[in-house]
Amino acid sequence: VEARKFFVGGNWKCNGTVSQTAELISMLNQSTLSTETEVVVCPSQVHVQKVTEGLRGDVSVGAQDVWTQGNGAFTGETSADMLTDMGVSWTLVGHSERRGKGESDAEVAAKAKYALDKGLKVIACCGEPLESREAGTTNDFVFPQIKAYADVFTKEDWKNVVIAYEPIWAIGTGLTATPEQAQETHADIRQYLGEIAGSDVAADTRILYGGSASGATAPGLSAKEDIDGFLVGGASLKPEFADIVNCQG
Ligand code: G3P
Repeated sequence: VEARKFFVGGNWKCNGTVSQTAELISMLNQSTLSTETEVVVCPSQVHVQKVTEGLRGDVSVGAQDVWTQGNGAFTGETSADMLTDMGVSWTLVGHSERRGKGESDAEVAAKAKYALDKGLKVIACCGEPLESREAGTTNDFVFPQIKAYADVFTKEDWKNVVIAYEPIWAIGTGLTATPEQAQETHADIRQYLGEIAGSDVAADTRILYGGSASGATAPGLSAKEDIDGFLVGGASLKPEFADIVNCQG
């Protein structure tokens, strides 16, 4: 019995016109997507409603970030209630492209907890910069990110969380971690999660790989024991996304 259902998320980032979004929706609606894979796409918030209204029912919609206070006098923000009202069921938190704007590990974790309390499921991102990878200190960088999440999540919360391991040096660079590099870090994260959140959480929580994942690299990566899916950027805007969803054959 496979405890962890394969999961593929598409992070569309800050891309797309109205008509390109319509094309992406119809591409997805026409694709054959494995029922063995849970699929979530995360459009820009201005396109979210178009996607929730037009997209097939077996693909969920996520936000790319979430505001941590409610509705009210918060110019420029989008509340969790607005997202769930539109049919959004997931959100990314802690993407490196947002951490880079100055969100600490604790702030990211608080945001994740807030989203969970609001009924959103969470794709909780983590990942190290090139300097850490080269210095051999990847875990020193990633574990505190994981610890911050574990400090605020209950066991019940973890059922609605997937972790996305995204080495920053592999994001948008065309440079993918090798299956061995990714597996090693995924296994380390899972072991650490066992120590701080319990062996059941470690065994059940899906850990996705993100960083230039493609139709070509997905099969080799997904064959690894601790790689339970992908968070896809660039390739999620292309027909290739379906190949990643279906990469387990
Ligand atoms: O969140 C997905 C991501 O950051 C990876 O982007 O374009 O390298 O697949 P990309």
